Amino acid sequence: MSVENVAKHPIPPGFEDALLLPDGYAKMYAESVSDPEGFWRREGRRLDWIQPYSKVKDTDFTLGKVSIKWFEDGVLNVSVNCVDRHLATRADQTAIIFEPDDPKTPARHITYAELSEKVNRFANVLLSQGVMRGDRVVIYLPMIPEAAYAMLACARIGAIHSIVFAGFSPDALANRINDSGAKLVITADTAPRGGRRTALKSNTDAALLHCSDRVRCLVVKHTGDQTTWIDGRDVDVLALMEQVSPHCPPRPMGAEDPLFILYTSGSTGKPKGVVHTSGGYLVYAAMTHQYVFDYKDGDVFWCTADVGWVTGHSYIVYGPLANGATTIMFEGVPTWPDAGRFWEVCAKHKVTQFYTAPTAIRSLMGQGPEWVEKHDLSSLRVLGSVGEPINPEAWNWYDKHVGQGRCPIVDTWWQTETGGHMITSIPGAIETKAGSATLPFFGVRPAILDASTGVVQQGDPAEGVLCISDSWPGQMRTLWGDHQRFEEAYFQQYPGYYFTGDGCRRDEDGYYWITGRVDDVINVSGHRMGTAEVESALVAHQKVAEAAVVGYPHPLKGQGIYAYVTLMNGVEPTDALRKELETWVRTEIGPIAKPDLIQWAPGLPKTRSGKIMRRILRKIAEDDFGALGDTSTLADPGVVDELIENRMNRA
Ligand code: WTA
Repeated sequence: MSVENVAKHPIPPGFEDALLLPDGYAKMYAESVSDPEGFWRREGRRLDWIQPYSKVKDTDFTLGKVSIKWFEDGVLNVSVNCVDRHLATRADQTAIIFEPDDPKTPARHITYAELSEKVNRFANVLLSQGVMRGDRVVIYLPMIPEAAYAMLACARIGAIHSIVFAGFSPDALANRINDSGAKLVITADTAPRGGRRTALKSNTDAALLHCSDRVRCLVVKHTGDQTTWIDGRDVDVLALMEQVSPHCPPRPMGAEDPLFILYTSGSTGKPKGVVHTSGGYLVYAAMTHQYVFDYKDGDVFWCTADVGWVTGHSYIVYGPLANGATTIMFEGVPTWPDAGRFWEVCAKHKVTQFYTAPTAIRSLMGQGPEWVEKHDLSSLRVLGSVGEPINPEAWNWYDKHVGQGRCPIVDTWWQTETGGHMITSIPGAIETKAGSATLPFFGVRPAILDASTGVVQQGDPAEGVLCISDSWPGQMRTLWGDHQRFEEAYFQQYPGYYFTGDGCRRDEDGYYWITGRVDDVINVSGHRMGTAEVESALVAHQKVAEAAVVGYPHPLKGQGIYAYVTLMNGVEPTDALRKELETWVRTEIGPIAKPDLIQWAPGLPKTRSGKIMRRILRKIAEDDFGALGDTSTLADPGVVDELIENRMNRA
């Protein structure tokens, strides 16, 4: 097996005083994996505990009894750690900068004192609606400060939040409200984005038709747009916040009490409710935020993700606020009103760390460097990438035009399930290579296993599937209401290991290169999508008999969605129907799930036992049908020729 050896980029000057000196990483990493108890016992102290923990790590990856507990007997409150404890020293410091969609609307600076008041009031609103410890609250909000208030308010009273990305459809929202058994959903009237408005309240109304009529709806009147109103069910949060007390005592919570559920796509079936708990998650989010971004007092940190994704949870809200940082919440999009918006915001707020996804970099790269050059980016110190492998071309453009060659790039590999960064460079400590996530974070023990035999690949280079051999505090604890599915999805395939679902190679220097998902999850513009979800949306259409969905390489999105659709007998395949199916999927799941290409497939390649051979469909979608491999087990090999003949992607 050959793994090309790519030269390292040296650490740029100016990082001599970074948090870790060059040999600090290796030493600290060795310590973290040789004595995890001692290491995390110390690291756990970065939080304020109401009752300190005596136990540190109690974890077991054995199939049938998988159990993950950290700081188990410690008692804390997450909102106190993100807000109250900063008041003595930084009440007047900005906690959140809200940058609205429309650049003509002034930004808002919310201090820690103000954040504290809002969170307390919001918590009292939740209590007034009967929300109790352990209750689930679904948050369906745009990128506005109220989203952070709502999250922290839940944490304050011990309720479990579950954020649903505002781009999801009413159906997707209803499924998540029902699966989590939420008592309450928090939404806004409408959400401006890129100059357009999404009708969140009316989406919520539509979703609630499929939910218990006991579910209440708190509405943030954000734009003031007209919405329907159901008395007794709908509540004006902002008005009520004015009426309740600005003091809400924080509820002491066990370290292992759930903090949030976040639904994410798996390779099969309905979305999985990933559960994160309070103590370990916050220790890990805060620690990774500090080291990986070389975060220092006075920095202005900007993560461009949406709070609806895990990246927004850990690196817009929990990590930065636990560290007393100034964090930006951006309501808009990178390309509106023009392709310079990101850089204009960086210059305006003197951003020091900028964290975004490769798909955004690729699309801005296509607009030319002049959009970047117009703005003063001298405040930037560290650049980050997340969500999908970054191609060296985009990496080099980011480095040259945005970082001007002086900002280390941290390519952070991690997942909803991992809570925080797992494999990543650290500024001033780890030299980078364009396209590599580099080395494991402290306490993380990656292992590369042979995909079919499960044998651990020792030594460098190596290639296979990426597993993690021991627990870390930010690890998910279970799937909401389905611990068995949790074990099956992550611990069954390679016994004794957490299986990430990603392929990986390790080069001669021990650097990790993530090669993408090896399961039926695709990564579209940095968003995770289960092909099974798109398939079940398609077959729910009355004209569709069968559907198979795969990913294919897409120049901007990383992967595009390619759907093979078999129509019901007698249905005419037309362009109009293609459009209709696209719209159908948008409304069933959301715009991010819309197929890029739909190929009419009179038949799908199946084994004699009726199993769809996705490997073949992937190859055809990649326009790489020369290497179809063994097709002898197909029930009807003729369908393959037909599919090749009419393939939609001719690269
Ligand atoms: C992919 C997002 C390569 C990977 C934080 C993973 C990446 C999935 C990177 C998780 C990266 C994320 N390099 N691939 N730096 N970061 N991925 O749960 O396939 O939305 O399994 O979490 O994104 O996506 P999720």
